[in-house]
Amino acid sequence: MNPSSCLISYFFWYLYVCSLSFNFFAFASSIERKNYIIHVQPPDDFDTEVYHRSFLPVYQTTESELEEPQHLIYSYGEVFSGFAARLSEEELNAVKKKDGFLHVYPDQYVPLATTHSPDFLGLHTGGGSWPRSGLGRGVIIGMLDTGILPSHASFTDVGLPPPPKRWKGICEFKTGGCNNKIIGARAFGSAVINVTAPPIDDAGHGTHTASTAAGNFVGDASYKGNANGTAAGMAPHAHLAIYKVCTRGRCSIVDVLAGLDAAVKDRVDVLSFSLGLSSGPFQYDPIAMATFKAMEKGIFVSCAAGNGGPAIGSVSNEFPWVLTVAAGTMDRSIRATVKLGNGKELDGESLFQPANSGSVSYPLVHPASNMAANPDCENFEGFDIHGKIALCMSSGLSGRVEIGSSVLGFGGAGMILMNSKPEGYTTFADAHVLPASHVSYSAGAAILSYINSTTNPTATLVFKGTVMDSSPSRTIAFFSSRGPSKATPGILKPDITGPGMNILAAWAPTLMHPFDQGFNIVSGTSMATPHLSGIAALIKSVHPDWSPAAIKSAIMTTSDNVDRTGKPIKDEQYQKASFFAMGAGHVNPSRAVDPGLVYDLGVNDYISYLCGLEDGDAAVSAVVHRSVNCSLVGSIKEAELNYPALVIDPRSGPVTVNRTVTNVGLAKSRYAAVVYMPKEIKVIVRPWILHFSYVNQKMSFAVTVSSRGNLGNTGAEGSLMWVSSSHVVRSPIVIPAST
Ligand SMILES: *[C@@H]1O[C@H](CO)[C@@H](O)[C@H](O)[C@H]1NC(C)=O
Ligand SMILES: *[C@@H]1O[C@H](CO)[C@@H](O)[C@H](O)[C@H]1NC(C)=O
Ligand SMILES: *[C@@H]1O[C@H](CO)[C@@H](O)[C@H](O)[C@H]1NC(C)=O
Ligand SMILES: *[C@@H]1O[C@H](CO)[C@@H](O)[C@H](O)[C@H]1NC(C)=O
Ligand SMILES: *[C@@H]1O[C@H](CO)[C@@H](O)[C@H](O)[C@H]1NC(C)=O
Repeated sequence: MNPSSCLISYFFWYLYVCSLSFNFFAFASSIERKNYIIHVQPPDDFDTEVYHRSFLPVYQTTESELEEPQHLIYSYGEVFSGFAARLSEEELNAVKKKDGFLHVYPDQYVPLATTHSPDFLGLHTGGGSWPRSGLGRGVIIGMLDTGILPSHASFTDVGLPPPPKRWKGICEFKTGGCNNKIIGARAFGSAVINVTAPPIDDAGHGTHTASTAAGNFVGDASYKGNANGTAAGMAPHAHLAIYKVCTRGRCSIVDVLAGLDAAVKDRVDVLSFSLGLSSGPFQYDPIAMATFKAMEKGIFVSCAAGNGGPAIGSVSNEFPWVLTVAAGTMDRSIRATVKLGNGKELDGESLFQPANSGSVSYPLVHPASNMAANPDCENFEGFDIHGKIALCMSSGLSGRVEIGSSVLGFGGAGMILMNSKPEGYTTFADAHVLPASHVSYSAGAAILSYINSTTNPTATLVFKGTVMDSSPSRTIAFFSSRGPSKATPGILKPDITGPGMNILAAWAPTLMHPFDQGFNIVSGTSMATPHLSGIAALIKSVHPDWSPAAIKSAIMTTSDNVDRTGKPIKDEQYQKASFFAMGAGHVNPSRAVDPGLVYDLGVNDYISYLCGLEDGDAAVSAVVHRSVNCSLVGSIKEAELNYPALVIDPRSGPVTVNRTVTNVGLAKSRYAAVVYMPKEIKVIVRPWILHFSYVNQKMSFAVTVSSRGNLGNTGAEGSLMWVSSSHVVRSPIVIPAST
């Protein structure tokens, strides 16, 4: 954001607040104020808002002698002990001196974990090919996002019951909008022009994520016959509660916290959070605190891992009490094949699929003799691309369609967009404005060497439409953030992979594109997250009494670590994907509702874990919103948390950790432990047979990991599986690389 737009938005915000308070003249004051979140000790007996206001100074303006309004924006009552206020530096200093003050957070924008194509199209998902285990009836999914387009066909309430009695939320659409599908909708917009704007989606993102999580059935959906079929979200009969915390794609942390506060108060069952701040210590992270409170109230939270990949340690939202979701590709590609003059064919992707193609070949040119000086086909000086196909480097997460516009503008006949090396084989199906194909780095390298090898290189673009079962199916997208977690390296993060690449779902007309085309394709961990929110809703509707940790364990231990062909899931380089890239594996929704055993966790387990991080009692108390004495509650190491994955380092001797599983399958069942691990690692499980005789019976076992000889610096990965006649309960075992 540039400074001038910042000033303008604050200006309007200020105007609005002042006009509300009957004190318009105070606006004349030239004091510069900013938004802050103030973390304070929880109140004892006070009315929360009165207590929060007691931190704010009362000012006399010098000119008018009128009392200025106190600049309280939100008094957070549910998930965070504190408030948001608009303060000058001097006022902030006064707040800091009050008893009970803990910490101040300047407002900041939380990025949406998406990589938008700003373009829209009428393509439609065929509903995905996943078997569905249920429809999510009676479950409420809260969406923290950019709002929703309530009139979209995906949000009809056909087949849905009225909201559950416990539902406390409200609907802020001016007229209509809410029904039995969208049961509540609110807008939070502290830093923007119009805080009274209804929770209508002004970016498309929120409509897309909401329909992915819980869009109702839309029959006969197709785009020019492509991808025809019935469209639906993961939990088509779950209710949606909308919390618009972003305006025009910008999400202020002050509003995000207010949305979380409201959603928890309203009693949603599942929270979908496609936003991500960078990693930091939990005691200074309001999102860590708010999601802890949500977990404590039994709310399942699904969060985006972030789009910082493939850099190691880039994962965000890494709290063990939430599900952290990585983005994978699907076994579907929207194919645009490059046929070179030498007969060689290289598959790429594009959503722009012109009907009459495949016969004409064009001269091929690479308008970047010096890549550093002309990396993105921005400048065609010295290159004649008129009537030619231009080979350009991809610009990464955004700007790809714009490169095509530029090629078209200079008279180009077509474009081949090639990945950089780190982007590997992850290709975007974009709504290009000219015949184009986005190809992998390796295909790009082959095209480059062909151009080098001949004086008159030519190419043809052949459009093949939607191709299912493209191989290898299921890889991890290059941008999906990677572990290990910086804040808690001993917990495996991300937890799971969901589809996040080239996802087609409902879209809202936006300011930039005011036409309602109905659907759009976007990619990002933002898109993977609502898939998991919907799947959590399916599990919750079948098992309403399960804790968030039990649902998470069910999702992780039943996931797939191989693709459809039985080969290990690969990363963007087509190497075997690390658990630090994909979490336990790719979600398998039909198995997740019936996991056999779960690794459960309660609030006290997380408190002992937080004590084990050794940041002190004050840090733990801040995260859990109450006073904790770690020497009384006891502390455990990260590896000892009853997590459905094990991160263990046996380099300085054998390590033993305990786990407890709860039988949620057949009453009488018998499980045997099976371990897969590279031979240099020794794993002993005691006992290695578990006999259960009733449902909800808990049994513990110990896992001892040691190394046979010198492990060196490279890590190792394997699995622990509890196998019965009907279930396989798989946990990753990760020996992290040593640094
Ligand atoms: C604020 O939003 C309302 C409702 O959309 C609209 O009527 C009003 O004009 C907006 N005000 C400003 C200042 O944009
Ligand atoms: C999609 O369209 C094709 C061709 O018209 C038709 O054969 C097929 O049954 C349709 N599929 C669905 C799921 O409607
Ligand atoms: C193209 O040829 C030049 C000169 O022979 C060589 O330096 C360059 O590495 C070649 N590039 C590719 C991609 O083969
Ligand atoms: C925490 O508990 C221990 C053991 O009972 C006690 O010695 C210590 O004073 C307590 N600390 C605080 C801050 O209350
Ligand atoms: C694991 O459990 C056993 C038996 O309950 C106990 O003796 C042992 O100390 C525990 N080990 C750890 C590392 O907690």
